[in-house]
Amino acid sequence: LQAAVGVQQAQGPKVVITAGPTREPIDPVRYISNHSSGKMGYALAAAAQALGCQVTLVSGPTQLACPSGVTRVDVESAEQMLAACLSEVAQTDIFIAAAAVADYRLAEVAVHKLKKDQSQQGLTLNLVENPDIVATIAQHQQRPALVVGFAAETQKVQAYALAKLQRKGLDMMIANDVSNPEIGFHSDHNAVTLITKDRQQAFDIQSKKELAHQLMTEILQAYTNQES
Ligand code: CTP
Ligand code: CA
Repeated sequence: LQAAVGVQQAQGPKVVITAGPTREPIDPVRYISNHSSGKMGYALAAAAQALGCQVTLVSGPTQLACPSGVTRVDVESAEQMLAACLSEVAQTDIFIAAAAVADYRLAEVAVHKLKKDQSQQGLTLNLVENPDIVATIAQHQQRPALVVGFAAETQKVQAYALAKLQRKGLDMMIANDVSNPEIGFHSDHNAVTLITKDRQQAFDIQSKKELAHQLMTEILQAYTNQES
């Protein structure tokens, strides 16, 4: 028997997770970004690895250590994050977009450090929209079997998250109410609602680590159901 002679165990699904903020350069010393800590994405990566998946974390700048057994690809801008995700897409079974991607970048990045203008006119930055990474992956010819997004909302959380799921062509959305002061950006806790076109399931406030384990279990179940 093959099993008796110690043939390597079959690998679990290949999971790609985006995490952290992106950083959009203004000039060589300045950038536009946001307060994302990356904690939820990193916790999901650790949970997926513990559940037997092959995990790649495509991460913007964070203070976090890469979970053991996880492959990390470091990026800064949204365009770099998209390129890293596209280079993995053909081998990806499950794609999870936990990154807080900057919605806009500079139309032109200054080659030299901008100098203060003496005319006291203020400064206007010309911004253009970034590519939508999760929508690009969800609409790709080599679409992963399961594509999951996050939605941080301050009002009408479920309705806005369901609209985003449909607009981007996702299978699942994990919505959180960021107006809740208990679960701020750098918090170790979170409370979310898992949303698909057929059902909604609430997960009460708990550690991001515990929540990540429960969400990854749900995600793997949804993946298995789709495959069968
Ligand atoms: N997302 C992405 N690429 C972008 C913007 C968002 O992949 N350029 C992903 C996020 O990682 C998240 C989901 O899309 O999984 C929803 O992000 P969110 O910022 O809530 O949605 P937006 O479409 O940017 O809408 P909003 O105007 O509310 O910011
Ligand atoms: Ca956004």
